[in-house]
Amino acid sequence: MLKTHTCGELRPEHIGQQVTLAGWVHRYREHGGIVFLDLRDRWGITQIAIDRESQAAHQVAVKARNEWVLQVKGKVRARLEGKSNENLATGDIEVDAHEINVLNKSQTPPFYINTDDRVDESLRLKYRYLDLRRERMQKNILLRHRVIKFIRDYLDARGFVEIETPILFKTTPEGARDYLVPSRVHPGKFYALPQSPQQLKQLLMIAGYEKYFQIARCFRDEDQRGDRQPEFTQLDMEMSFVEYEDVLQLIEGMMTAIVEQLTDCELVTKPFPRLSYREAMEKYGSDKPDIRYDLAAVDISDIAGESGFSVFVQNVEMGKPVKVIRVPGYGAELTGNQLRKVHAELEAGIKSAGGKGLAYLIMPTEENGEVKGPIGKFFSPEQFMQLFERVGAQPGDLLLFLSDERRIVYEMVDYLRRELAKRLNLADPKKIAFAWVVDFPLFEWNADEKRWDPSHHLFTAPFPDDIPLLDTDPGKARGQQYDLTCNGYEVAGGSIRIHRPDIQEKIFGLIGLDVEVAKERFGHMLEAFTYGAPPHGGIAPGIDRLVMLLAGEPNIREVIPFPKSQNAMDMMSGAPSEADLRQLEELHIQLALEEEM
Ligand code: AMO
Ligand code: AMP
Repeated sequence: MLKTHTCGELRPEHIGQQVTLAGWVHRYREHGGIVFLDLRDRWGITQIAIDRESQAAHQVAVKARNEWVLQVKGKVRARLEGKSNENLATGDIEVDAHEINVLNKSQTPPFYINTDDRVDESLRLKYRYLDLRRERMQKNILLRHRVIKFIRDYLDARGFVEIETPILFKTTPEGARDYLVPSRVHPGKFYALPQSPQQLKQLLMIAGYEKYFQIARCFRDEDQRGDRQPEFTQLDMEMSFVEYEDVLQLIEGMMTAIVEQLTDCELVTKPFPRLSYREAMEKYGSDKPDIRYDLAAVDISDIAGESGFSVFVQNVEMGKPVKVIRVPGYGAELTGNQLRKVHAELEAGIKSAGGKGLAYLIMPTEENGEVKGPIGKFFSPEQFMQLFERVGAQPGDLLLFLSDERRIVYEMVDYLRRELAKRLNLADPKKIAFAWVVDFPLFEWNADEKRWDPSHHLFTAPFPDDIPLLDTDPGKARGQQYDLTCNGYEVAGGSIRIHRPDIQEKIFGLIGLDVEVAKERFGHMLEAFTYGAPPHGGIAPGIDRLVMLLAGEPNIREVIPFPKSQNAMDMMSGAPSEADLRQLEELHIQLALEEEM
């Protein structure tokens, strides 16, 4: 090794030892002829002192610049009285260098590696290898490593086997577009990259492995967002002879252990609460609610329908709900001008989300004995009493009223909760709040295509009691499906699967999949099911989203070493790029690009 110790390792007990360190120049300064270099590797930073007496070393040191790669030989000594650095694990010592070898020079980097300053993201992605040298990124990447290592050990100890499944495969329907890979050997044919290993893990259950997992790369061609990448990583799992509850318990235990053993975050939901899909939508307007804070919507349609406010009365007559979000104390905090400003901003947000308005009331306080707000005049004292009791109103609260089509009300509730949480600092990244969302409808009605779409995927089993509904009222059938949400993100999804061919075929029928098409696409699955498929189920936590939340980062690019940009480009290599004509010919591909390209 070109080093005897790491740059994070030396402590007072090493004082007097001869050591060799190697790493990058993190910082450089000179005091009274002594050169001080902070030498950095991924374990930490050590201060190197080079006195004039060490002539050869000094001559090299004065030329060294940030990010040069050096090997330093010297003796560990205590720092001068009062010069210790408490922020550094090695802050009590320094290395008195007598030899410095330049292993490599560096150009001046396009941004500072040694500060946490904000740098334009496209620049960071272009020079990702430099960005990854920065402390924050190293922390994230190491956390990611620890999470994956923990998962492997946790599952291995419980009898799971990690099994790799192919990347070149056939389409796996998870609702996104496939990435296709043309075949050279089979002209005109394509592999699809897996959107998940869904089919293969079910086949592994039929193959008798019983407890499978894989840290699996998945590929989905869909619009990018902060929590979405075209390729991402799942902890993919499947188990045989399990019931719904077994899967939930296993994941809950593992997630709890991860948060408690690998982070300094506080797990605020223990055990994880369970919300039905319906309840999540009605209270939080979202199937992935952030429950670190309350701000739940309360239905007051019955009261508002009797009020004198014609908008609400008419809406309620048409079956549209009226809901209230109570913001504790916020009304008393705001002066008249602030209130007008906050209200105008929130209302503008509501309108851009397709809503019509945002009525409000402010609860009286001791100093201010009247209910304030433009719709106050439309409620009788009895209605006020009823309303305040329903929403649990306290003095000084701000009550926000929403009324529209149910779908739009959900969107507005979700928007308002997230927006208010931001304004009121309610979403503490050090808090982790998991919740299960369960009892999803098996299908969603696709009005454009006039057919049922599976709300998870087409292998999800209905609850046994709901099987008859497949014939009578498919929209009412609930799937044995569960989502795990955390801090407003969906971090895992899974289900108990169908293992009976007759039910699988019925589902194909309901989603409008022709028997012949189904055979062509999933014939291998249907056939496999006829050879003794055990009852089975599974789940897939998204590793990127999980690590993002554990690291307190705002998007998954911060925890992926080489992510794609918002428009699915690799900024560093320039992928995707053109293929040369010979490659295309071999693949039997002719491009039909538009003239101007
Ligand atoms: P699902 O499609 O819900 O289920 O995906 C599971 C989890 O994967 C993560 N995820 C993503 N992360 C980053 N970028 C993306 N584009 C992306 N898409 C999904 C989410 C999500 O909760 N085969 C089923 C699982 C099963 O039924 O066992 C599946 O893939 O965290
Ligand atoms: P108006 O009488 O139209 O001025 O409305 C009085 C208040 O009700 C205003 O604050 C509007 O933003 C609000 N408002 C109007 N329509 C709705 C609606 N559909 N839901 C909630 N608030 C509304």
